[in-house]
Amino acid sequence: MLRSIRGRGYDACTMIKRPKIAIIGAGGNVGAAVAQYAVAKELGDLVLIDLKAGPAEGRALDLTQAGAWEGFNNTSFTASDKPEAMAGADVVVMTAGVPRKPGQSREELININAGIVKGICADVKKHAPDAILIVVSNPLDAMVFVAKQVTGFPRERVIGSAGVLDSARFRTYLAMAAGVSVEDVQAIVLGAHTDKDMVPITSTAMIGNVPITKFLSAEKLTEVVENTKKGGATLTGLIGTSAWLAPGAGTCLMVEAIVRNQGRVLPCSVELTGEFGVKGAFVGVPVKLTAKGAEAIYEFELSASEKEAFTKSVAANTELMTIARGFLG
Ligand code: 2OP
Repeated sequence: MLRSIRGRGYDACTMIKRPKIAIIGAGGNVGAAVAQYAVAKELGDLVLIDLKAGPAEGRALDLTQAGAWEGFNNTSFTASDKPEAMAGADVVVMTAGVPRKPGQSREELININAGIVKGICADVKKHAPDAILIVVSNPLDAMVFVAKQVTGFPRERVIGSAGVLDSARFRTYLAMAAGVSVEDVQAIVLGAHTDKDMVPITSTAMIGNVPITKFLSAEKLTEVVENTKKGGATLTGLIGTSAWLAPGAGTCLMVEAIVRNQGRVLPCSVELTGEFGVKGAFVGVPVKLTAKGAEAIYEFELSASEKEAFTKSVAANTELMTIARGFLG
């Protein structure tokens, strides 16, 4: 089933091609949130794909109706349960898979999600061979590895969305602790997207260009780091399933950076080929996002404890990749 829903102002005869953005797993909360933010920013034509066409079509219709008040222009939706609907996509956002439940780690999802992500990545390779693939499924870094292996895309075109989310949580907790606007907090989280092993970077964190240590004691900073690391688990406990608004907003920021060729520098999970002294692992590092995808990776000096945490993070990712390899066949 393939249904097209055209939003206000859509001109089928337009000569200018808008970006085509396929969201896989769009019947789920994270996929729907990516769609919602993408529509609000008028990023392009959206293709919402899910195992069942109903939920994808429902999300598309709901958003279209929201547009009656929100005034989204330049938006068209296609909803489908067919992978071929992604044909010719410029960006594919992969949110397929099961979310974690309260008390569950992201790592525990590997046995279910690796097979799902593997199957869909084969579809991406077949139907959207030139797309930039953004992976959101968990356990994130291992799923980026699976996506890279299955598609065979260059590393620039297989990018994991998690650092943007973890950094949003880190910046939020820093702003709350310091009593300042989150807008002025500059801070990132590197490494793996796991509660245990993500690495919130305090050594370079700033608020309004003033070092973070001017605002927060070492003790308070440690508390903020711990809150950040368990940020996803806290929300899963509160909501009963994993979060979607901040994950959707962060992922949409990446889509925007790509389709608008912005050159944003954001923490994303990519294959490291020597950066930070690491080869062959997939973890979050600062990446320049352009129309080419992950066009550049930037290295910088970490503190001794951050280096140690980053090394542990890479080791944890390597272990998960070993498990994921078992699904690649
Ligand atoms: C989170 O941390 C879903 O992994 C995602 O909320």
